[in-house]
Order: sequence, then structure tokens, then C-alpha cells
Amino acid sequence: MAAASATTLSVGSATSFGSIASPKLQSKAFIVKYNTRNYLRNFSGLKAEAFVRCESESSFLGNESVAALRQSITPKARNEKQRSWNHVQPQASYKVAVLGASGGIGQSLALLIKMSPLVSSLHLYDIANVKGVAADLSHCNTPAQVFDFTGASELANSLKGVDVVVIPAGVPRKPGMTRDDLFNINANIVKGLVEAVADNCPDAFIHIISNPVNSTVPIAAEVLKQKGVYDPKKLFGVTTLDVVRANTFVAQKKNLKLIDVDVPVIGGHAGITILPLLSKTRPSTTFTAEEVQELTVRIQNAGTEVVEAKAGAGSATLSMAYAAARFIESSLRALDGDADVYECSYVQSDLTELPFFASRVKLGRNGVEALISSDLRGLTEYEQKALEALKPELKASIEKGITYAQKQTVTA
Ligand SMILES: NC(=O)c1ccc[n+]([C@@H]2O[C@H](COP(=O)([O-])OP(=O)(O)OC[C@H]3O[C@@H](n4cnc5c(N)ncnc54)[C@H](O)[C@@H]3O)[C@@H](O)[C@H]2O)c1
Repeated sequence: MAAASATTLSVGSATSFGSIASPKLQSKAFIVKYNTRNYLRNFSGLKAEAFVRCESESSFLGNESVAALRQSITPKARNEKQRSWNHVQPQASYKVAVLGASGGIGQSLALLIKMSPLVSSLHLYDIANVKGVAADLSHCNTPAQVFDFTGASELANSLKGVDVVVIPAGVPRKPGMTRDDLFNINANIVKGLVEAVADNCPDAFIHIISNPVNSTVPIAAEVLKQKGVYDPKKLFGVTTLDVVRANTFVAQKKNLKLIDVDVPVIGGHAGITILPLLSKTRPSTTFTAEEVQELTVRIQNAGTEVVEAKAGAGSATLSMAYAAARFIESSLRALDGDADVYECSYVQSDLTELPFFASRVKLGRNGVEALISSDLRGLTEYEQKALEALKPELKASIEKGITYAQKQTVTA
């Protein structure tokens, strides 16, 4: 908040994005031209507005969000800018469901989604404690209407007509556990929830957060196949937190402006399968061999850093919610016709010999429009070796998920 004066707003036809890793956005200014259809819509903002130009020193989700967030939380800024924003109408029209909404991630994520002017309905589902979360959240004076659904009997209704389903249901890690240790419990939870998604909103974008993502996404794919509704373009493993961490750690290490930094993270979402491509950092940055080693290991182990600091009280929830909100925002913008939406995600892929792989993807109305293969070209020797080293573990996790799902009977 102290930096609020760094944001400038002026009437114009462009806005800037820090959270999009578009090849078009490599210039320092990160400017995206908007046509008259493309409103500036954002997650944090409470306001959707057309023709607003934002320039900022730092970011919540991206520059566009900063301006609106500050607008909403800084009375002085709000008063000063009131006139420019008065004509703006929220454009809420999308329905988002959060499955596992009473949990550590679910609650924080629900709050961030409730702040999105793009969302008209927010469906909160959990097996317990969701009524209170929904009642609490419903008092926020933002456009999204909040609905609560508790227990298996209400699961189907929570999914009807939904555009994006986000799944953070399941158990988190405790110190000493790997993500794979969660497999037995979370595999079953994800299977059951994805079956319901297949039955009730088969066209929705599905965002899987529940760990181990390297296996839960292949499980979801198998379930959707068995139900005859698998669209690989619409199934996503959420790896945004790896990118968020990489951007933060690199900016700190190299004393760069956070808003400018973008590091693609490929592979998977566990240990050595998380591979930050530091050589592809934007803006172009050089690293010593020691820095590469230190940053790569820190990004790979960042989840464990949080698990250990929480000392038994769970894993990353706040940063995860932030990252998931960014990925939802990008998905909603893509659904809305924005042609410049790029994020890293763990999806069905042919970029390597592995059937699922995280890379940058271009998002469009129908989901993944393209896998960005260029990041995998011209890797450093370190990255090339790390890529080869991660493949056996990622392959085993994928196969474990597929084998699990194929052994299960899908409920009719
Ligand atoms: N993808 C990532 O980057 C990432 C990061 C952090 C955590 N995670 C994973 O996210 C998951 C959730 O973490 P958390 O910290 O929010 O855990 P949490 O225990 O705080 O919350 C999980 C919630 O899921 C609910 N739940 C359990 N079974 C359910 C079911 N069948 N249907 C609906 N809801 C159900 C629980 O009631 C609880 O409210 C964990 O698997 C964790 O490992 C993923």
C-alpha cells in the first residue's frame, strides 16, 4: 500500500500485464493493446473497466490488477480517480466452482475469486464446514454471488453450468512427507470429484491442485476418458505456484523488479520434476553456475520450505491460493476471448516423449490452443541434463496415476 503512488492511471487504450508470459510481452513495458471488446478485467480489482492504462512498480497478479486493487484499498487513490472509473461496469458472467472450499487453499482462493469482476457465481463445495465460509464471503460487496454445497448429495448441483472447476480437495503434506505420500488418499478424492465433473459440467476447464499433481492429472484424464468426455485441452495441473516462486526468488537474487520477471517452469510439480528454465528468464539475465544450482534447488524445494515452517499445520495455502487465482484469471480471460493469454501448466503434451508435461501454453476459448515448444530449444547443458533426469520420475508418477485409475470402477 505504501507504494500506491507508484501506480498511474490514465484514460487510454492499452493496459499492461505482468502475469502473462506472452512472447509478445518481452518488452520492458509489457504493453498489450486492447480493442474495444477487450475490457480490462481483473481478479483483485472489484472494478472492471474499459480503456484504462495502468503502470505500476509492483504487482498483485499483474499490473492490471494492481491498479484496481489499490483503487479499492487506498481511499486517497480512489477519491482522486473516482471520475475516471465511474462509467465502468463490472462484466461478471462466469461461474466458478471450488471443490475443497473449506480448506486452507480453498478459503483463501474463494476470497480471491470473490474479488473478480469476471465471476458472477462462486460455488463452494466441501464435505464439511462450507456454510460458514460461504456466509462470511457473501458479505463482501463484490458482484459474485456465493452458493454453498455440502457433501456428496450436493456435489452435482455445485457443478451445474460451471465454466471453471478448481480442485484443491485433499490432504496436504506434513514434514517428512513427499507429495507422492499423499497419493492413496488424494487419488480417490480426485477420482470421485472428476467423475462428478464429467457428469455435470463436462465442458468446463478443470484445474487440478490436489497433490501429487504429477499423478492426479493423469487420473483425472483416465476418469474423463472412461466417461467419454475427455478433452485434453481443458484439463490442467496447476503449476503456477512454481512460476510464482521462481519469479520471486530470481527477482530477489538478481535485484530485479518483480513485475518484470518471468521464468518458465517445465516438467512436473514435485521435487526434481520441477525444472525452472533460468536461461529463459525475462528480462534476459545471466546467472553463475552456483546461482543456477542454488535457485533451481530452492524453487524445487520451496513447497518443503513451507511445510517445514508450518511444522505439521499443512503446506502452502496463501501463495497457492494466489497462484491458483492467477491461473483462474488467465482462464477466464481466455474464455472471454483475450488472444494473449499464456501460462505454464501441466497438461497432456507431445513436447517430450511423456504424455503429460508442464510447459507454457497458450490459452484460448477452448482451452489449450498451443504448447509453447520454443522454451525447450536452446537449453543450457545444466537444464538439458536436468530435463533428462526428471523424465524417469515423472514417467513413473504418470504411470502410477493411469494404473490406479484403470483399476478403479468408474461410477455410472
Ligand atoms: N498444486 C500445488 O502447487 C499445490 C500447492 C499446495 C498444496 N497443494 C495440495 O492442495 C491440496 C489441499 O491443500 P490444503 O492445504 O488446502 O488442505 P486442507 O486440508 O486445508 O483442505 C483440504 C480440504 O479438502 C476437503 N476435502 C477432503 N475430501 C474432500 C472431498 N471428497 N470432496 C471435497 N472436499 C474434500 C477437506 O474437507 C478440506 O476442507 C493438498 O492435496 C495439497 O497437497 C497443491
